[in-house]
Amino acid sequence: MTDLHTHILPDMDDGAKSVKESLAMLRMEADQGIDNVVLTPHFSHRDTVAGFLEKREKAARKLAEAIIRLPENKQRELPKLFLGAEVEYTDRLFELQDLEKLCYADGKYLLIELPFMAWRGNVFTGLSNFANMTGLTPVIAHVDRYFSIQNNQALSALCDLGFPMQISTDAVLHALPWSRSVRFLKSGKAGLVVTDCHDQKKRQPNLGPAMKRLEKLIGPDAIKRINRQTDEILLG
Ligand SMILES: [Fe+2]
Repeated sequence: MTDLHTHILPDMDDGAKSVKESLAMLRMEADQGIDNVVLTPHFSHRDTVAGFLEKREKAARKLAEAIIRLPENKQRELPKLFLGAEVEYTDRLFELQDLEKLCYADGKYLLIELPFMAWRGNVFTGLSNFANMTGLTPVIAHVDRYFSIQNNQALSALCDLGFPMQISTDAVLHALPWSRSVRFLKSGKAGLVVTDCHDQKKRQPNLGPAMKRLEKLIGPDAIKRINRQTDEILLG
């Protein structure tokens, strides 16, 4: 299993506040059988890509050094780490230079967080322009968090674009079987499940229990489809 959306890198954003916390979160991922974790700190379009990469590199090095200090058997148990970013949407995203450097594991998929306000047509045009002009594919972060803000028309306009969409584990763990999150995953409208974990308690890594519950709700074939799409995003 792979967690495609985490704020585990230390001191990057509102996620892990220390290396100790990062290690504890990685330990939780490992205990749930997660093999791969992508570190996706927030990138604001007001930052420069170069400045962000420098900061991310430093944080990743700090974490790698702490992992190397662990006993060898503990090191081996931890998930394999990959780098990415969660990019804040702007209508003119296509104008930003070097965004391909923030893609999942240097591939062609870029995780994008959309605005938390009612979308107008500009969001859909902006996402299409971005994809057409850069050749990169947006991956829509935690679509479940927009359900209460957007109307049906806006959500179906987003689905019509056909970009991969993530549902948060919290929406799965606390969902009723007929909830929109579960229906999106069952129908294949959304094909990815991620933790978006920020800490060890309130927004913790919980992909293991979420996938167990989901399998009961949507069946093994839909789970296989989710795993296939997850591998595609990570491996390109
Ligand atoms: Fe996030």
